[in-house]
Amino acid sequence: MSETSIRFGSNAGQSVTRRDGIAKVTGAATFAADNHPEGLLHAVYVPATIARGRVIRLDTVAAKAHPGVVEVFTPENRPALAGDPDAKPFLFAFRTEVLQSAEIRYANQPIALVVAETVEAATEAARLVVPHYEALPPRLGLDGDAPYKPESGNFGRPAETVFGDVAAGHAAARHAVDLTYETPAQYHNAMETHAIVATWDGDQLALDVPSQAIVMSRGAYGYYFGIPAENVTIRSPYLGGGFGSKAVINGPALLAILAARALRRPVKLMLRREQMFGPVGHRGATRQRLRIGTDDDGRMTALDHESLAVTSTFDDFIEGAADASLGLYATESLRSTQYAVRADIGTPGPMRAPGIATGSAALECAVDEMAEAAGLDPLEFRLRNYADAEPGTGRPYSSKALRECYRQGAERFGWAGRPLAPRQMTDDRGLLVGWGMGTALFHAPMFAAEARATLRPDGTGLVETAAADMGQGAWTALAQIAADGLGLPLEKIEFRAGASDLPDGGIAGGSGHTATAGGALHAAGSDAVRRLGEIAVADPASPLFGANAGVVARDGRLFARDDDSRSESYVEIIARAGGAAVQGTGSAARPPEAAERHAMYSHGAVFAEVKIDPALFQIRVTRLVGAFAAGRIINPHLATSQLMGGMIWGLSFALHEEARHDRRTGRIVNADFAGYHIPVNADVAGLDVITVHEEDPHVNPLGIKGVGEIGITGTVGAIGNAIWHATGTRVRRFPIRIADLLAGSQSM
Ligand code: MOS
Repeated sequence: MSETSIRFGSNAGQSVTRRDGIAKVTGAATFAADNHPEGLLHAVYVPATIARGRVIRLDTVAAKAHPGVVEVFTPENRPALAGDPDAKPFLFAFRTEVLQSAEIRYANQPIALVVAETVEAATEAARLVVPHYEALPPRLGLDGDAPYKPESGNFGRPAETVFGDVAAGHAAARHAVDLTYETPAQYHNAMETHAIVATWDGDQLALDVPSQAIVMSRGAYGYYFGIPAENVTIRSPYLGGGFGSKAVINGPALLAILAARALRRPVKLMLRREQMFGPVGHRGATRQRLRIGTDDDGRMTALDHESLAVTSTFDDFIEGAADASLGLYATESLRSTQYAVRADIGTPGPMRAPGIATGSAALECAVDEMAEAAGLDPLEFRLRNYADAEPGTGRPYSSKALRECYRQGAERFGWAGRPLAPRQMTDDRGLLVGWGMGTALFHAPMFAAEARATLRPDGTGLVETAAADMGQGAWTALAQIAADGLGLPLEKIEFRAGASDLPDGGIAGGSGHTATAGGALHAAGSDAVRRLGEIAVADPASPLFGANAGVVARDGRLFARDDDSRSESYVEIIARAGGAAVQGTGSAARPPEAAERHAMYSHGAVFAEVKIDPALFQIRVTRLVGAFAAGRIINPHLATSQLMGGMIWGLSFALHEEARHDRRTGRIVNADFAGYHIPVNADVAGLDVITVHEEDPHVNPLGIKGVGEIGITGTVGAIGNAIWHATGTRVRRFPIRIADLLAGSQSM
């Protein structure tokens, strides 16, 4: 154990409420669209109403004549961009539409941009732009085009992974299932839709824009506008949700920046809710085939997971669902294969638990069916097949933590005594009751981050990193880690984040932000404390003079490591040294060797109870219990809230969310919150989250994993399996609807 992890303590682990909570509930927190610089213009984009074809004529006369309209940009008068929006020159670059041609690649693609003095004028004039199309029939869905094997699967991982002899594994199976599942297109719908305020000053560009990758995206914006990254300032103090969508540069934002430069005035653009369905990414639909076999004892001989994911006609983003089978079950043979199919849609993108949300939904339902075929309780089946590997074998090594999740979750839920057969339980109102479970799993990645920490002469600390708070509480959890790094109470910490002139805080994504930015902050604090210690130990007037065993920091004082009676406050040390603040820097990234030696995941077990009306088949999730092991929990209150949010999203996935296309036009017919269903309070009952103690010495020195995405995984399968247990009907297409259960009951 390093010294830093020993000194880690008094602030981390506390359930502090959000430090920015009051600013948010009083409206003092400024989101991107709350900025109104002098001379601001408003931009609204005109969306394509077909999904494939081209604009042959765009009538802008009425729009231009509308009072307050300053300009209408179309492919014909759109100013030049320095960078090609159809190139992929940097990490996480997606091809995007910036009025570069008359071609239509998906419905809701921008085909013109109206800029006006008021948002009302811009909105009205955008309605007056009349496009004339040459339309082609859209290719949609999983069967719209021929499948192909993409260059890579989930986030650059191989499209195919095989170990063992899969054919032999299938041949040796005594029990087998061959099942196909479908998951729909889902759209990120953060409360704050994408917004940007772009302000040019010569070749300096300032952007108020919600960003999950604040420093990194400077270079991306710089690419499109031909300016160095240093010329781009990004202010992103708050995000009203991100979910992966705000980690990516989008076309409407580039159009606003382009308009601001051309018109020499600041321009604001905020997407309307329905415009979220197209140009800013989504979760691609999947079809997944799972072939599993077991021996007589219910031990897997083969796990064969093949996934087909829909991407756009012009770029590849693969919802890598087959990836979910790589990390969990000890099978004699395994194959995970990823295919893709093109459709006339906006390019999908990372959406909360990309790949694993969809993949674990299918996997965990298939595992349940496999358990049924093998005659085993689903929990017993999972325990029998979980990979109890040790560190260094390249398999998940935290199996003890997962076993503990199973144990604690099952106990809290009351799983024991569950009848094996379906349709055995009813409640006192005659509703069918079912219990199901699913295993949760998510990668525990780290990116790279830097931070700066300053001990001020008044005994307070300043910590700085360009971290992003999407609402999950990063301002609070990261400040707690930073306070421990500096050996100060949280009240004495000023935390600066959310702006690109700070040290690079890395990416708020992949459930790796706390580990990465937190690691950098802790290292920076430790560095500042070390420098302060050097000053004290070298100063004959200090009680710590000559403390050879070193010093430790606690509550704003340094103590001799081997003698607690020798100590001095930060204030005294700095004052005697001349009163200059002491600054430290730090960085964090995972050493590549560690990632090669160990598989790194967070784990969990989710248990669900559903109640279903036997005549109407209305589905209610009445209880959800999730037990998660995610390394060191920095703030139990916030972590629980994150895990709950994930589980609610799992419920949403299982029962509500689906974007539906009109097959003639290719438009999404439910592109609003009336038609695109997400759970409301009345849909969510009895959420219970357990955080299972786990010390992981390998992921990073602080032992931090992530809690942002894992809650979705496991939950979808748990609900699907509970619905089967209640009704006897296996529905293999999400979301599960009343009609599916009615159809199932008629075939019974
Ligand atoms: Mo995410 S999809 O890691 O923001």
